[in-house]
Amino acid sequence: MSSFRGRDVLSIRDFSRADIDTVLKAARKMVPVALGKKVSRSLEGKILGTLFYEPSTRTRLSFESAVSRLGGRALGFSSAEGTSVQKGETLADTIRMVEAYSDGIVLRHPQEGAARLAAGFSEKPVINAGDGAGQHPTQTLLDLYTIWDEKGTIEGQTVALVGDLKYGRTVHSLTYALAELGANLMFVSPPTLEMPREIIEHVKEKGLTFRLAHRLEEAIRDADVLYVTRIQKERFPDPQEYEKVAGSYRVDADLLRDAKRDLIIMHPLPRVTEISPDVDRTKHALYFKQAFNGVPVRMALLDLILGGGS
Ligand code: NCD
Repeated sequence: MSSFRGRDVLSIRDFSRADIDTVLKAARKMVPVALGKKVSRSLEGKILGTLFYEPSTRTRLSFESAVSRLGGRALGFSSAEGTSVQKGETLADTIRMVEAYSDGIVLRHPQEGAARLAAGFSEKPVINAGDGAGQHPTQTLLDLYTIWDEKGTIEGQTVALVGDLKYGRTVHSLTYALAELGANLMFVSPPTLEMPREIIEHVKEKGLTFRLAHRLEEAIRDADVLYVTRIQKERFPDPQEYEKVAGSYRVDADLLRDAKRDLIIMHPLPRVTEISPDVDRTKHALYFKQAFNGVPVRMALLDLILGGGS
């Protein structure tokens, strides 16, 4: 991606190191605007279509906050219920309509590949806000921003990805990016929810150090970053299979006794039971700050794609 102007954001794999660097630096400059302490109108007159066919709190609201903070507006839906999708309208037709009403489209959809499909029907930029178990590239950018902002660098950090590595789209995108940036990886999951083979192969091809583990205790000592994820209940074909792995991991104050002093704990949220609330008060807990970071990062991205940013 040499220039961001008008580009789709479908997969984090389309981002070079230099692209990631551009977004992170632009995001840092956006923080005062995200906090309401500084005013920018770089998206004045722009309309962002936000189409969420799956539940969302942070992603949708932080996109809406981001566009509003920059003087633009968002329109869209937070569930397909109450739209013509219920009458049988295809994704292609919905995209054609929203393209006519807006300057860019943010799409979350249960089907892997939906954003790429949508981009084929739209001349306007399409941003993937999660496509089934596929990818979630803007989440990855805010995850990278959080690590970079906290640790000063991403290269050489030991990042343990914990939980549902099979169905979790956030960890799929994040692994590709961390492999690109030279982090050390640990994959901690139940045996049935391991990272997909093609992603592991990719990490191997990059020549990076990585470890596979099933128990959190095996990873906690060495981690600089613990990236915890929810077991993706909605993606299990069989509810009984979910029951077998529900509650597999729980990060609590006890476990943290073995952690590095400057370990940071991240989570894309929502959490269910995988991080005990007693962790929230510790200096390790970074997940709420991480969720805030979604605003400046999405502002930076929207500004680069639709506004005056370069
Ligand atoms: C994640 C998602 O939708 O993939 N949520 C988010 O965007 N912050 C993670 C999840 O739902 O578990």
